[in-house]
Amino acid sequence: MLFEQLRSGGCLSYLVGCEQTCAGVIVDPALELLDRYAALATEKGLRVRYVIDSHTHADHFSAARELARQPRARMVMHRLASARFADIRVDDGERLVIGELRIRLIHTPGHTDDSICLVLPDRVLTGDTLLIGGTGRTDLPTGDPEALYESLFGKLLRLDDGLRVFPAHDYKGRTSSTLGAEKTENPRLQRQERAAFVELMRGFDIAMPEHLTEALRTNRTGGKTVKQLIAEAAREVAFMGMEEVLARIESRARDLVLLDVREREAFEAGHLPGARHIPRGQVELRVDKELPDPTIRVLAYCQYGKISTLAAARLRTMGYTRAVALDGGMEAWAQAGFPIEKGATRP
Ligand SMILES: [Fe+2]
Repeated sequence: MLFEQLRSGGCLSYLVGCEQTCAGVIVDPALELLDRYAALATEKGLRVRYVIDSHTHADHFSAARELARQPRARMVMHRLASARFADIRVDDGERLVIGELRIRLIHTPGHTDDSICLVLPDRVLTGDTLLIGGTGRTDLPTGDPEALYESLFGKLLRLDDGLRVFPAHDYKGRTSSTLGAEKTENPRLQRQERAAFVELMRGFDIAMPEHLTEALRTNRTGGKTVKQLIAEAAREVAFMGMEEVLARIESRARDLVLLDVREREAFEAGHLPGARHIPRGQVELRVDKELPDPTIRVLAYCQYGKISTLAAARLRTMGYTRAVALDGGMEAWAQAGFPIEKGATRP
């Protein structure tokens, strides 16, 4: 069996493969490492067959849907997962066959209602049901401390003590543990009475994950993250550095239209000398009138360089094939001490 653990901050994900057949599985992939999974699978000579999310993640962005777009790969989640795009929905006691490997799935609700643990001959991928020295929290959507108690004491901890534990999170740089070690050392598992365990779990007051709503939106719907949208736009355009733009302003170059896509108040408070103004939200509707020549060279800019990237990509889509975005934004421009013009746009 090939087994690789990948870390992205506190998130742990896994590539598991059958050496005989070269079939592979990716478990709990994080979007930041999207390209890494494909590269690693190739490096190990594996063809990804299944991409499994152990549950609906609320704290990071899953790459499962993207990875499952590979030919012959299938995305797997528990049947209760709200992600409609999961190809294969599984339930307690089922198994996935990956070449010569068998992964047994156990339904372990508690952290979420759709949590599963993945049992291999010598190890178990515990998702956020059991962490090293802890458990998943139960205060996020569909979490339930009573269910977690049942899942841990009624199911997971009944497996062989020698099984190695590989969780979906660890914030202290640890890689694995064993069920036996967790039973004796994990502070939460010392509360073996249901009421005491539930009381402990209910007593935690933990801050909500930073990107909770965005993570749930994208992981449940398959929609894109804001970062993905900007990255996709950035792939479609070229950028121009601030010094290049400054040189063109100073030489009074006439072949570059500076287009400020911020809101009016921001524009009037200070913009690039000679800039035109169309707020991002009005670009599509006003561009034909304001920039009638689609062959012009236009540089979009905004406050931080994100909205302008979206605007430049949109302009390219609309036929402005020389649209570029400022590598930077008004914020960096002002910090650099570059010239700023104030007031309303010229007619
Ligand atoms: Fe989680």
